[in-house]
Amino acid sequence: MMVYATPEKVLISREEIAEKVAETAAKLADEYRGKKPLVVCVLNGAAIFFADLIRGMDIPLEVSSVAATSYGDSTESSGEVRITKDIDVDIKGRHVLLVEDIIDSGRTMKALTERLKQYRPASLAVCAFADKPSRRVNDFKADYVCFEVPDRFVVGYGLDCAGLYRNLPDLRIIGDTQ
Ligand code: IMP
Ligand code: MG
Repeated sequence: MMVYATPEKVLISREEIAEKVAETAAKLADEYRGKKPLVVCVLNGAAIFFADLIRGMDIPLEVSSVAATSYGDSTESSGEVRITKDIDVDIKGRHVLLVEDIIDSGRTMKALTERLKQYRPASLAVCAFADKPSRRVNDFKADYVCFEVPDRFVVGYGLDCAGLYRNLPDLRIIGDTQ
């Protein structure tokens, strides 16, 4: 029988998440009104955040997705970023908003934004659900961040540990029991 122990330590509740995501979506809608942005989901981690975020933006927008990987099945970054799914629509002259789950070392966002900039968008901004600024190895800064989190491994609301826990509705810390 598979043992599936759900991490118990809730860092951010689903209510706090809903409130902050709605607030961020409203801010983004104001920022992008009249610009018909292309909102790009960084798969898989940002899928749940992305779905909530775009439904809170009451403006015309389009969606697309990209994917990158730097983590294997561990909680430590390999340091190398591989873009496993490039953008598949023409973003030249478009206002692009990249939506990410969490920024850790900053390597993934640096690699993805550098790639997207090569396609000459009119603007490129990054909105992250969570940010661990204390872990940064470069100077990457997101334009919008819902929550700054401490240097702990967090799961839920789309974020995984070795593929699991993405479906937890709140954000939890792995490894703590209370
Ligand atoms: P970075 O390239 O080091 O900034 O790593 C970013 C990626 O690592 C994110 O897209 C996440 O998939 C993953 N990641 C970093 N920290 C966590 C965490 O605490 N929980 C789950 N995934 C994480
Ligand atoms: Mg990820």
